[in-house]
Amino acid sequence: MARRKYVVGNWKMNGLTGAIGEAQAIFAAAADHDGVDVAICPPFTLIGAMVAAAPGSAVGGQDCHNAASGAFTGSVAAPMLVDAGASLVIVGHSERREGYSESDVDVRAKAQAALGAGLSVILCVGEPRAVREAGGAIEYVLAQVAGSVPDDFDAARLAIAYEPIWAIGTGLVPTVGDVEAMHGAIRAALAGRFGAAAGEMRILYGGSVNGDNAAELLGAGDVDGALVGGASLTAAKFVPIVAAAAGL
Ligand code: 13P
Repeated sequence: MARRKYVVGNWKMNGLTGAIGEAQAIFAAAADHDGVDVAICPPFTLIGAMVAAAPGSAVGGQDCHNAASGAFTGSVAAPMLVDAGASLVIVGHSERREGYSESDVDVRAKAQAALGAGLSVILCVGEPRAVREAGGAIEYVLAQVAGSVPDDFDAARLAIAYEPIWAIGTGLVPTVGDVEAMHGAIRAALAGRFGAAAGEMRILYGGSVNGDNAAELLGAGDVDGALVGGASLTAAKFVPIVAAAAGL
């Protein structure tokens, strides 16, 4: 079965209550594009309000703890995301791996906790600039995939997001050839480990995706969608990316 395109907004630490109207506009426009799954991952504080404002829409967290509850001040557990109305969560974003020292082992535990709580997962991987320049990007990313993707799960509920760190928020993007080489390598590694189920896992590209480059990036081989930061904050910037995905 063909994989449906998946376009996900990661609002990062942006958005107050006044931004809910943008999410409503995004989800309303997304409803016109049947062939594309659209989700928004706002800050934790907006999840409940966003779900209430756009019932039935896919709203997610940007991280979760690997424990279901306990003495972890400041953290949010996967069942709490479900309780707030979320249906998905991002784990292993490079801003968490780098800023909060999250290892592959940590990311794997978070993914397992999220899947166990019934959430879908977007698991992020991606190389730093120096690794890309030294020619080691594919090896680096495949090691992250091997270390952070859990062993046993419903394949349709796990997506990988390939986000080269040097492309995030910089306006730089890899060549289509480099994206295809990376996504093909990830797909082959997943197939080697999970067999036919790998065909159900979506592999998203993330890093400076915008309305101008979305069609080219999303049209590349083995690219099943996009994880979008800055250009997901307003309907004016995000809807053209959804439309580009729908046009493929
Ligand atoms: P930008 O789209 O702002 O480059 O961010 C990408 C990203 O990190 C999404 O998770």
